[in-house]
Amino acid sequence: MTTTADRKQTAAHLLAAHGQSHIFAAFDQLDEAGQTRLLDQIDAINWTNLDNLVETYVKNKPLFELPDTVEPAPYYAKDPTGDAADKFAKARELGDQLLREGKVAAFVVAGGSGTRLGWPGPKGTYPATPISGKTLFHVFSEYLLKVGQKYGKPVPWYIMTSPVNDAATRAHFEENNYFDLDPSDVMFFEQGTMPSIAYDGRLFMSGPDSIVLNADGHGGSLKALARSGAVNDMKQRGVEQISYFQVDNPNVKCVDPLFVGLHALEGAQMSSKMLPKVEPREKLGNFCLVDNKMTVVEYSDLPDELAEQRLEDGSLRFLAGSIAIHVIAVDFVEKLNAGGDLALPFHRADKKVPHIDFESGQTVEPTEPNGVKLEQFVFDALPFGDTSIVLETDRVEEFAPIKNAEGVDSAVTSKQLQSERAGNWLEAAGVKVPRRADGSVDAIIELSHLTAIEPADLRAADLPAQIKPGTEALL
Ligand code: UD1
Repeated sequence: MTTTADRKQTAAHLLAAHGQSHIFAAFDQLDEAGQTRLLDQIDAINWTNLDNLVETYVKNKPLFELPDTVEPAPYYAKDPTGDAADKFAKARELGDQLLREGKVAAFVVAGGSGTRLGWPGPKGTYPATPISGKTLFHVFSEYLLKVGQKYGKPVPWYIMTSPVNDAATRAHFEENNYFDLDPSDVMFFEQGTMPSIAYDGRLFMSGPDSIVLNADGHGGSLKALARSGAVNDMKQRGVEQISYFQVDNPNVKCVDPLFVGLHALEGAQMSSKMLPKVEPREKLGNFCLVDNKMTVVEYSDLPDELAEQRLEDGSLRFLAGSIAIHVIAVDFVEKLNAGGDLALPFHRADKKVPHIDFESGQTVEPTEPNGVKLEQFVFDALPFGDTSIVLETDRVEEFAPIKNAEGVDSAVTSKQLQSERAGNWLEAAGVKVPRRADGSVDAIIELSHLTAIEPADLRAADLPAQIKPGTEALL
């Protein structure tokens, strides 16, 4: 049997070999539980890999080199005509069929820290709707309940958390009776972590028995889906396609039969939705073909001369911006994981990392970035597929993110967009919706997903003839 003393000796050699002996500074003063905790953390780290990462991303800043062959990626326009319209009709039929057969799962990545929003709990527990203040998780739950009702088959829902917010996320669902979903159709799993690294290459400690870990980015979801058993669970349920979305967007179509159908019809492995950028430097990743492979080039990496290029009609040549909505084939996730370590690149983020001082053990709350967090991004899996489609969507219809405490992409802008979308849908169903001179909806409208997840659902709903200006309407 391996004793703590044996483990200590092995770990001490390992740490010395990798220049990380400070991790053991207070080991002998720790109680048994603390020693075990620290040894487990040390065992979980791939040290050889970490040395490479420190050299590549921490001691050096990798320069992004844009290859010569960068073209804008083709995409399906949202209002198709001619052959494309026929294809959309077929795609919708196929998507509907896949949902009726239970072959589509929903997947939300909810492991982020939500620092910018300043919300202490998991972001999914943020009150998001304009009148009743339903949380983001509640909004998505109602969407999935409605899909289940419409197609006669529940949609299994996988929720990726992080070690920091897992318990609070589960508690939110428990306390709210899973928002009427069947708990056996809701699966939680934790994403992976990476050590946070000081600029000199040493790992930060949060206490004498603990290395500072950060979530490994939404790209970590591709590993976590396999490691957690979620992929196996999907296969047992007959799920073939995963509808991937972020936790911050209450207007997202958690599963969109048209998008899933188009992706499946084209035999794609991983597909994406896009919004036309409103200006050349809008902070969205750009869908490009790099060496003929679908690739997202981050806004910061797209040179001005490309970002500013325009077509003859004046529109941006690199128009398609990523809003982080994907469909991913289950067998693609399996294939990506087949070789062991998933070869997605890491991205360096310079951060202020609170920690204990390496020498004195005192707590340090930095005011300037003092180290690096390494994350993987899910869209870096796109070039690993053979086929990938991009579908245009509409800002009001599908992008109302809550990212910041105020200003752009805040709760205020999101609630306005939710109200606008509800107004558009009600108007299309014959309700008189008040509008201001600038065309915006002159009321606060909250439309539950249980009433409608698309305008056509309102045909069967009991609707008022009109909404009075300046009032609140909860439907
Ligand atoms: C992201 C995209 C950006 C896109 C925008 C659309 C990146 C780098 N940027 O920006 O291209 O235009 O969304 O809204 O992806 N998450 C985890 N675990 C992690 C990190 C994040 O689950 O370790 C989840 C978050 O909970 C959230 C999502 O990933 O649901 C996005 O994370 P965030 O860091 O907020 O990305 P953005 O900067 O908003």
